[in-house]
Amino acid sequence: MSAEIKNLKNLQNTEYGLKKLFAEAEDFLPLLGTDYVELYVGNAKQSAHFYKTAFGFQSEAFAGLETGMTDRVSYVLKQDKIRLVLTTPLNEDGPINEHINKHGDGVKVVALWVEDATKAWEETTKRGAKSFMEPTTEKDDHGSVVRSGIHTYGETVHIFVERKNYNGIFLPGYKKWESHYNPEPVGIKFIDHMVGNVDWNEMNDWCQFYAKVMGFAQIISFDDNDISTDFTALMSKVMSNGNGRIKFPINEPAEGKKKSQIEEYIQFYNGPGVQHIAVATDDIVTTVSAMRDRGVEFLYVPDSYYNDLIERVGEIDEDVEVLKEHGILIDRDEEGYLLQLFTKPVVDRPTMFFEIIQRKGAQSFGKGNFKALFEAIEREQDNRGTL
Ligand code: FE2
Repeated sequence: MSAEIKNLKNLQNTEYGLKKLFAEAEDFLPLLGTDYVELYVGNAKQSAHFYKTAFGFQSEAFAGLETGMTDRVSYVLKQDKIRLVLTTPLNEDGPINEHINKHGDGVKVVALWVEDATKAWEETTKRGAKSFMEPTTEKDDHGSVVRSGIHTYGETVHIFVERKNYNGIFLPGYKKWESHYNPEPVGIKFIDHMVGNVDWNEMNDWCQFYAKVMGFAQIISFDDNDISTDFTALMSKVMSNGNGRIKFPINEPAEGKKKSQIEEYIQFYNGPGVQHIAVATDDIVTTVSAMRDRGVEFLYVPDSYYNDLIERVGEIDEDVEVLKEHGILIDRDEEGYLLQLFTKPVVDRPTMFFEIIQRKGAQSFGKGNFKALFEAIEREQDNRGTL
């Protein structure tokens, strides 16, 4: 454990330390949670079908030609607190087309729910954020929403959403999406964290960005000794806002004998972007088996991973045989344990994927699983000829 991590751990272990770390964040950028995640995709209608069928999202809202929006179509999907927006352009050029051309399907917007979107924009731009959207009020019969936005890594943006004066289905301009096809939810409840991949030597700059511009604090750090196999490596730091509802780990590649999975991402995404969205469940076995039944592909975990599991993580509530059957990973920290599993990329390029996570006390990110996990990712890279 590096001195830096030890200091942070010690600091975190005292209530005073936590308060001190986060006091400033609470002051200038209070965040209520993730509001929505918007993906720019090649075919929103078909992507929506995939996320409904495979992930159990529900039809929520729609905007497009039928609602008076002429240049794009957006489907809003919901599962418990998670809102996904899938957007496809309807014309031949423009920023959405360029985004899809360059990155493939991927996350454009990580929207954050705030009390005051004007103040959020003022405070962050004042601290050096590049504006993406000045505070803008949109209205319809259900009230008004104020949104503003700033740029973050790559071409990804944060949009601040103030919806305290709005009671419509999503945003002005959207209508309820009535569908006769409504597959059951799979039990995913909220976004636990969202991970950004940035380029070589950029991790610290982006952690600084979240600290300085958004008042986040670094809660965990992993170096390439923590996260490496015989072949590939990466480094990661986890940034969190004051109330802990928003957690953004930032990864950068590290030197290994072969190509880092982060480098592979950067190559195919053509730059930094969102690597994975971790969604929380309180019954991972049920969630993962439902998703598998519906066609979601997960990373393969070798049976050998489970051989010394109990020695490594201690007693757990779950039946190890059941976890093994579903390839679910387990890790423990000082506060408890967590169960997690990663999908294969959900898009054609080896870029974005999902993590399913169930926390049983643990507040960490599965460090003990990294080696087993990365060996699994390397097998996939090897199959793609990109290792
Ligand atoms: Fe994760």
